[in-house]
Amino acid sequence: MTAQLDILAISGSLRKASFNTALLRTAQQEAPADVAIEIYDYSDIPLYNGDIEAAGFPATAQRLKDRVLKADAIIFAVPEYNYSFPGVLKNAIDWASRPYGKSAWMYKPVSLVSTGGGLGAARAQYHIRQVLASQGMHILGAPEVFVTNAATKFDADGRLTDDVARGLIKQQIAALAAWTRRLAASA
Ligand SMILES: Cc1cc2nc3c(=O)[nH]c(=O)nc-3n(C[C@H](O)[C@H](O)[C@H](O)COP(=O)(O)O)c2cc1C
Repeated sequence: MTAQLDILAISGSLRKASFNTALLRTAQQEAPADVAIEIYDYSDIPLYNGDIEAAGFPATAQRLKDRVLKADAIIFAVPEYNYSFPGVLKNAIDWASRPYGKSAWMYKPVSLVSTGGGLGAARAQYHIRQVLASQGMHILGAPEVFVTNAATKFDADGRLTDDVARGLIKQQIAALAAWTRRLAASA
């Protein structure tokens, strides 16, 4: 029997009807029985400001940091805003990377799912890889998940209707789980 894995899912979109967050719900639906995925709401953290940090780490940002530290692996849903990933997500990454040398992201396995326009937010996903590399994160290379033309791929309840994309997400979660276990075994 394998131990249960705790995967933390973080969406770069804060809107309730987000297609990207819907991909994380798909990941929950397609996860193997020994993988639990929690979608984390970080909408309460402040904009990063060194003065706020110096006055005392905000409780909401500390809660995010503690949850990241506890997770075995991370999944980011990465929307594309102006050819990059949203500022709210960068802000969350920045808070949990502080203080310098004590990043919660360090060496975590991570996978990425995206949906957007005709390129499926590919440009944003390739931007965030550079940022995650700064944290020493182990970024899963394959399978990649880029769901093109978001507006045509979900039903009225926000359920992903594209079976090819659903299958890729299922494969990605299985690959992330296997990789996380391999990394833990070799640590
Ligand atoms: C500020 C802003 C910039 C955007 N820029 C892009 C873009 O460069 N490429 C793209 O494919 N979609 C772009 N979009 C459209 C988003 O990808 C689309 O709204 C998507 O559904 C947002 O993700 P969500 O549904 O998870 O909120 C942009 C949307 C916003 C709000």
